[in-house]
Amino acid sequence: MKRIGFLTSGGDCQALNAAMRGVVKSLLNSDEQVELFGFLNGYQGLIYGNFRMLEGSDFSGILTRGGTILGSSRTPFKTIHEPGEDGVDKVEAMKHTYFKLNLDCLVILGGNGTHKTANLLREEGLNVVTLPKTIDNDLWGTDMTFGFQSAVDIATDVIDKIHTTADSHGRVFIVEVMGHKVGFLTLNAGMASGADIILIPEIPYNLDKVVKAINKRKEKGSKFTIIAVAEGAISKEDAKLSKKAYRKKLERYTHPSVSYRIAEEIEKKTGQEVRVTVPGHMQRGGSPCPYDRVFASRLGAEAGKLILKGEYGFMVGYKNREIVKVPLEDVAGKLKSLSPDADIIKEAKMLGISFGD
Ligand code: F6P
Repeated sequence: MKRIGFLTSGGDCQALNAAMRGVVKSLLNSDEQVELFGFLNGYQGLIYGNFRMLEGSDFSGILTRGGTILGSSRTPFKTIHEPGEDGVDKVEAMKHTYFKLNLDCLVILGGNGTHKTANLLREEGLNVVTLPKTIDNDLWGTDMTFGFQSAVDIATDVIDKIHTTADSHGRVFIVEVMGHKVGFLTLNAGMASGADIILIPEIPYNLDKVVKAINKRKEKGSKFTIIAVAEGAISKEDAKLSKKAYRKKLERYTHPSVSYRIAEEIEKKTGQEVRVTVPGHMQRGGSPCPYDRVFASRLGAEAGKLILKGEYGFMVGYKNREIVKVPLEDVAGKLKSLSPDADIIKEAKMLGISFGD
């Protein structure tokens, strides 16, 4: 008999349910008896012992369902050692819940912050297996995270739709894409939808170069320009600032986000009308795309295999087209970002896409 706890932590994304279903199906199809505990709203459920017992039937019909049947929340790692407002020692409370329920293992689905806490729990003696989720695809140790391809589909669809209206009106359109501090989502959605300019955090932009690219299109007879801007895009000038100085500078801006600042500057410099579209959390919503359903199911099944073998302390990841187990201590605290020298960037430039650099 194995007693297994599940939790989903951090920002949600598509295929969280598909991944949990994969784990559970693989366990239920084995000879092992299992008891399943679902902790509610991420680490909060583990801290406060807030869980419900799960049956195989809870995982039926959820392959295609977005969000997470367990709920999620953010429990920032940087304050994990600070007592909560109610004075609770979060780490001790999580250990207490785990040992009180006599769990054999925790299956934790999450992104960067979640993995730091998962690794801490491992260091504290808990058995942990994790699965890589995030639309940002910024998790170290895996080439792909589930949620990413579904979000690429959504952001691509948005930019596709903007194309027709941009064409009718002859405007410059900015579509702001999520991705936190990395540009995987913006780059992929931008390339998939034929964006003319793509601005990502890994390649700080020079606004004059952006304007030059817009003017060049105009000279060639193009009525409109589509710019895919990552929410974390940064100018060359700002990239030179220390983190602290940049944060201070951001506080002075009144624009809701980087895209609006860029839009204002482009309007000033070109006299062209600029419109901004921000699809925001829509990119994390809805049903997972077929790729993510299959991918998350595969990762889930492999996590089930690790649990059955009693191999703990790993994230199930994907490297060079193979599913791999990555030690949690290697994953925690590292960010995966795009290299400005990556082939995909060079190829995008060969297609005529400007990165404003
Ligand atoms: O990490 C996923 C993500 O959607 C990022 O792309 C984005 O920056 C962030 O979460 C938004 O967080 P929240 O849901 O807390 O607003």
